[in-house]
Amino acid sequence: MKLLVIGSGGREHAIAWCLARTRGLQKIYVAPGNAGTAVEREMENLPITNPQELANFAAENKVFLTIVGPEAPLAKGIVDIFRARGLRIFGPTKAAAQLESSKDFAKHFMERHHIPTAAFETFTDADNAHAYVEKQGIPIVIKADGLAAGKGVVVAESLKEAHRAIDDMLAGNKLGKAGARIVIEEFLDGEEASFIVMADGKNVLALASSQDHKRIGDGDIGPNTGGMGAYSPAPVVTPSIHAKIMREVISPTIKGMAQESMPYTGFLYAGLMIGKDGSIKVLEFNCRMGDPEAQPILMRLKTDFLKLLEHAVDGNLDKVEAEWDLNVALGVVLASAKYPGIPRMGNLIKGLPPDNSFGGDAHVFHAGTAFNNAQKTITSGGRVLCVTALGVNVRAAQKRAYELIETISFTGMQYRRDIGYRAINRKA
Ligand code: AMP
Ligand code: GLY
Repeated sequence: MKLLVIGSGGREHAIAWCLARTRGLQKIYVAPGNAGTAVEREMENLPITNPQELANFAAENKVFLTIVGPEAPLAKGIVDIFRARGLRIFGPTKAAAQLESSKDFAKHFMERHHIPTAAFETFTDADNAHAYVEKQGIPIVIKADGLAAGKGVVVAESLKEAHRAIDDMLAGNKLGKAGARIVIEEFLDGEEASFIVMADGKNVLALASSQDHKRIGDGDIGPNTGGMGAYSPAPVVTPSIHAKIMREVISPTIKGMAQESMPYTGFLYAGLMIGKDGSIKVLEFNCRMGDPEAQPILMRLKTDFLKLLEHAVDGNLDKVEAEWDLNVALGVVLASAKYPGIPRMGNLIKGLPPDNSFGGDAHVFHAGTAFNNAQKTITSGGRVLCVTALGVNVRAAQKRAYELIETISFTGMQYRRDIGYRAINRKA
């Protein structure tokens, strides 16, 4: 059996790694993959990114199932293209992926279906947006409507910052089409959690909870990034919060999308703010797994991943359950100098284990890595690696991950030293 994973980040490496134990597996193609997926025994990189060409490849090579990692190909309609040719693929259609590809769509969808989220208004006119911000005051959050690769959200703590964000997006065209329409929303306080489910159009299977660390600096300061580390489970998601998220957010979303003739299939990621009073509000939807959340989540999955994916594609997710390792998994992202700005790239990475494995309890997932002419692994992106380890509790998983990081190095390497701190403080 052959499988195809689309994408090149740490999330896709983790998806492929988790599928590598599938019984009867011949090969997992990763398109385009990275230097990490290139060296795993069961995987082969495929230098294709065009959706039509990927569909041709899947058809010609009798790929059993394709799994899409990132949002960009989903927003372009790769699932529609595969399905039109009778090819099995897991992900949302172009229409359903609007939950992520348009903040305006997502906010109005939530409004229509009474799904709790921050109060908001949408603007295309800069003057109106400036006036709104003056009236609302700070802190306030400015979001580009379209996909902006993690650069589309400004949490403004001063009016000056808010006005600048509006000008950059609406007048300055800094984010191009993605920023030609903006959503301005109420600032929410609380603790963030990532809640990810698999959906088959009508049924859902919740994955283990997780928490990401979005800011670049220790203690959650500095600019937002794609995510600097994550762990699973997230103790903020207690059993009662879990039930509330399913009831108030996930169920109405899946029902609402079906009602609106865009049945949602694929991973659905709800970025949530959980208030001190236990209230839940949706910050964003993503139509994919989180990166780096996928790395610790999948490290804990004990059930055969392909079995879950097959149930999802066949529309009977209600007939399967997922079993999770009771250990905690924690991943720390190693990033390039200057990230989340324009990263410095092309540096030699030293100390990587040859097959990315540190034994059964830890793995290094690659993201921005490539080979140089001498076939040595070098940095090729902002987020480079995610060292992910299991432990009996958050502290143990954290200790193991940071010990292993000591053995890896590249020029300009930066990482947070406090991944998992909220969970540890909560226990204390
Ligand atoms: P988003 O892409 O919408 O999740 O936004 C990226 C990050 O910005 C989130 O993970 C939060 O840390 C922060 N953020 C987004 N919206 C809000 C909000 N309404 N209140 C406070 N922080 C927010
Ligand atoms: N780590 C956040 C995200 O994947 O959107």
